[in-house]
Amino acid sequence: MLNQNLSTRVVHAGESRRKPHHTLTTPIAQTSTFTFENTADLVRYMEARMWGEHDGREEYGRYGNPTTAAVEAKLAALDGGEAACLFSSGMAAVTTTLFSLLSAGAHVIFTDDSYRRTRQFISQFLTRYGVEFTQVPMGDYEALEAAIRPNTRLIFSESPTNPYLRVLDLERLVDIARRHKVKTVIDSTFATPINQRPLEFGVDLVIHSATKYLGGHNDLLAGVVVGSDYLVGGIKETQGIFGPVLDPHAAYLLLRGLKTLELRVKRQNETAQRVADFLARHPAVRRVYYPGLPCHPDYQVASRQMSGFGGVVSFELDTDLEGTGRFIDALQIPYIGPSLGGVESLVEQVALVSYFELSTEERAAIGISDSLVRLAVGIEDPDDLLADLAQALDRAFETETLFQAVNGSGRILPVVMYRR
Ligand SMILES: Cc1ncc(COP(=O)(O)O)c(C=O)c1O
Repeated sequence: MLNQNLSTRVVHAGESRRKPHHTLTTPIAQTSTFTFENTADLVRYMEARMWGEHDGREEYGRYGNPTTAAVEAKLAALDGGEAACLFSSGMAAVTTTLFSLLSAGAHVIFTDDSYRRTRQFISQFLTRYGVEFTQVPMGDYEALEAAIRPNTRLIFSESPTNPYLRVLDLERLVDIARRHKVKTVIDSTFATPINQRPLEFGVDLVIHSATKYLGGHNDLLAGVVVGSDYLVGGIKETQGIFGPVLDPHAAYLLLRGLKTLELRVKRQNETAQRVADFLARHPAVRRVYYPGLPCHPDYQVASRQMSGFGGVVSFELDTDLEGTGRFIDALQIPYIGPSLGGVESLVEQVALVSYFELSTEERAAIGISDSLVRLAVGIEDPDDLLADLAQALDRAFETETLFQAVNGSGRILPVVMYRR
């Protein structure tokens, strides 16, 4: 097979050229189990499996499925790994991978600006099983190296991170980890294999929430880990015990979504860059976080190791919690919702979606401003999205708006809520 470009791989990699019934698309093997002709057939299969040569044949749905296997082969080809293992969600990929690689007495290091549930899993669950951890600030390589102990087994980080889109210097990470014989795992959900391929830098395992860009249509939950046959094989064994497998129908939806991954991500990269440039010039915007802006702390690293800066732009408005809500409510194209990476644009006020139970002061203490907005652009026309942002900013900031507010005594008072 020729060494194909990514845009060809998203369409063809992993799928066999000749399919059952001469279909063009890979069929959905909607079955929980697989059958054998007779006992001799079963014994042949078991012997082949013992030698790792079962040649695409499956035995039971928790251990494998041909539709899922085709998607795994495609995802391995996209990230440049030997093998991939699909899961029922991104969190299932994260938790099963960490359970598989760590045992009591081991120490794991993770970076701070990352998906909250991943941090919770390490700090609140793995510790119950005797795993130790250290959280280090994203981008502080001295702290990262200093945190390594004799029992450190793993460094886990996202890149780019959520919500500040920090980008880890993968060359530096791998250099540190290899000198100390520590394994590395990168959650590359925000980048996709189109924008960044951590395995090419020597990272051991890559994880994606396939719920986001890989699926791309906001209609499924899935996760994947990609890496060497050896490491992914061990994780697959653990999955066979824990059981968080992807349903074959969801695997088919993911396969279908992947065919347009390159087209979608390129469009989302371009739109997000235009959105970031626009917001960076707007007087009502206090700060924009996008690795494609020269003012972003990781612009240089991102320019070196990524081929696109991604479809998420975070920004702080020059207002408070309520004012930010008014801006979001004035948007007409993005839906309000806590995800990213699909064809529909999604917007969220980070304080309300991820840190609702905290006060303004508590959020400020962990670096989350009440006016922080995360916009995940879809594939709508970029001019329409820019026009929508402009009108929403105008409505929230530049128009003197008269609101009717009910005060404590029940009297209706006219109050000016916003004026710059
Ligand atoms: C970076 C990152 N990793 C993992 C996850 C978890 O993925 P899932 O929602 O598919 O379980 C998310 C979800 O938002 C995420 O943003």
